Amino acid sequence: MATVTLKELKKSFGKTQVIHGIDLEVLDGEFIVIVGPSGCGKSTLLRMVAGLETVTDGEVQIGGERVNDSEPMERDIAMVFQNYALYPHMTVFDNMAYGLKIAGKPKAEIVERVHEAAKLLQLESYLKRRPRELSGGQRQRVAMGRAIVRKPSVFLFDEPLSNLDAKLRVQMRLEIKQLQRRLGVTSLYVTHDQVEAMTLADRMIVMNAGKADQIGAPLEVYANPQTQFVAGFIGSPPMNFLPSEMANDAPGGAKTLGIRPEHMRFARTGKEATVIYTEALGAETLVHVELKQGASATIRQNAAGPVPSEGAVVHLDWDAGDRLFFDSQGRRC
Ligand SMILES: Nc1ncnc2c1ncn2[C@@H]1O[C@H](COP(=O)(O)OP(=O)(O)OP(=O)(O)O)[C@@H](O)[C@H]1O
Ligand SMILES: [Mg+2]
Repeated sequence: MATVTLKELKKSFGKTQVIHGIDLEVLDGEFIVIVGPSGCGKSTLLRMVAGLETVTDGEVQIGGERVNDSEPMERDIAMVFQNYALYPHMTVFDNMAYGLKIAGKPKAEIVERVHEAAKLLQLESYLKRRPRELSGGQRQRVAMGRAIVRKPSVFLFDEPLSNLDAKLRVQMRLEIKQLQRRLGVTSLYVTHDQVEAMTLADRMIVMNAGKADQIGAPLEVYANPQTQFVAGFIGSPPMNFLPSEMANDAPGGAKTLGIRPEHMRFARTGKEATVIYTEALGAETLVHVELKQGASATIRQNAAGPVPSEGAVVHLDWDAGDRLFFDSQGRRC
């Protein structure tokens, strides 16, 4: 196990800078999720830790040692990719054993390690099968197995679940979390899925165009987003953004008022709005409204609450303590 430290880490491809100085201290055994929209630099950041991309400026340390110039093989990491690309002609056993064979481990040790990982991943009865004879979830587990048998100090995951259907993704998410807890291996996990980030992370790093907008525990980031970007990216449905004039007591410099859908409620008095459409999801209903000032918002009602019909004119209220304000640069104020 090991710590991972990034110091002012930067990356340019030619003249284009894509990572603009990232600082991060990953604790031993910690599960860090790197989350952000497509193209924000998540994979590039992970690949620099893996040694698959050169570092333009700054430093990557693993276990306190600078590794900028070491080869991926020397870094004691194992990576699980999105298209986990198992060898189709090899059995599950051979797929999992391959890395150890290349590393020249003795046969008895390879057999022991593969069986140990197979047991952990409930793949023992599939060891003789080929990848095409497995379900998507089982293949994903083999990809995990390949990483586990190496007993690395650090796991690096790049969107490992995005090829799976929604139900399987939830199941595998749980399995990865439990596995990581049991093994206690320091992990960096890249995803664009904020639910995955919320559920997996000890701490998450929310990336916005090559910068870390915020680093923190999931619920802390959810409750206290430092930028409008983070406020809008973490949470589904996203936070409502209204003109700050809708609050009579907005702080100086405020441009936008942010309120989460679960913090808005229907009331006798308050801001007038028209219901545009409603989405009944079973346990809750999302009510989409348009306010007078041309702003729109979504209200999350639990199943027990009253749901106005489409076209109805309603009044919205919220607690002053649930409001967030952002300036014209998108910073909290
Ligand atoms: N080899 C490369 N050469 C030039 N530009 C690159 C290269 N690799 C990535 N980029 C650019 O760097 C930026 C970050 O890419 P990166 O793959 O890290 O994004 P990402 O956050 O992983 O996105 P996604 O969620 O789509 O996988 C993008 O604008 C991308 O076009
Ligand atoms: Mg990527």
